[in-house]
Amino acid sequence: MVVVALANLKGGSAKSTTAFNLAGVLSEAGFRVLCIDIDPQKTLGEAFFGVYAAQSTLSSVLIEDGLIGTAVQPTNFANVHIIPADDGLKAIKSGQTQIEGGELRLRSCLTRIKANVDRHNNVNQVDWVLIDCPPSLDRLTMNALAASDYVLIPVDPGAGGRGALGDTIEYVYSAQKWYNPTLKILGLLINNTDPRTVYDQTTQELVRETYGELVFKTIVTASVRVRESSEAQVPLVFCEGAEFVRYANMYRSLRSEVLQRAGWQRGVNGQEKS
Ligand SMILES: Nc1ncnc2c1ncn2[C@@H]1O[C@H](COP(=O)(O)OP(=O)(O)OP(=O)(O)O)[C@@H](O)[C@H]1O
Ligand SMILES: [Mg+2]
Repeated sequence: MVVVALANLKGGSAKSTTAFNLAGVLSEAGFRVLCIDIDPQKTLGEAFFGVYAAQSTLSSVLIEDGLIGTAVQPTNFANVHIIPADDGLKAIKSGQTQIEGGELRLRSCLTRIKANVDRHNNVNQVDWVLIDCPPSLDRLTMNALAASDYVLIPVDPGAGGRGALGDTIEYVYSAQKWYNPTLKILGLLINNTDPRTVYDQTTQELVRETYGELVFKTIVTASVRVRESSEAQVPLVFCEGAEFVRYANMYRSLRSEVLQRAGWQRGVNGQEKS
């Protein structure tokens, strides 16, 4: 099981969109994916279900020391499950509600899955866990970073986005230092950009100059198709229509880089970790 947090302090940098579409392309390749929406905005859950009311909730599991597998729900897509966000996360985020285990609480949940102590909803058979973080460097994001093998940072390459990127990476270093020394940056994904404009070419180059090999070769260009897919509650790779193929292929290309960086051997159905 490989655990990836999608994090960036910058709001609207495509964390949820990347989680949604990466879940799609990983499941397309035969992987079993569990999304965890730890953002009280509920964007990822809404991308899969529209407006919803979570049943067994993530916040109650975190607060009451429950097994997180009990909060897993199927989506409309085979091999993609989700633990949706709920309103109780707001009180955890603000510090109004304390959780026993603090920043290490989600990590302890995932350790119980890895140790086969938690097998609810077959959660122990998952290959990839994608955790969608809120746009803040708070207790929820730290829980995600402390629980993850990797962090994937979707990047808005504009000036504001680059500033937030530095702060986000500093926060990743703090997570490494205090809670999770083996946490690695999987990569920075330049997103929502238009390479036909000189401005976007320049900002992209600035990110690549600063962060070099950390930046994925794949970029996801700005398109209304990306928005349409989220609003239709269908990841791009499962959207019907020739107009979506180009964007689905961007996420397939991201999948190849992710598998390679995380050390998976690519195979359609029988994936083995190298
Ligand atoms: N490549 C793209 N082209 C066009 N629109 C995009 C693209 N990627 C994301 N968006 C849109 O940008 C907006 C923000 O994306 P998203 O919700 O994924 O960001 P986020 O980082 O999760 O936001 P938050 O910080 O609020 O959690 C959404 O409306 C989404 O549909
Ligand atoms: Mg989001």
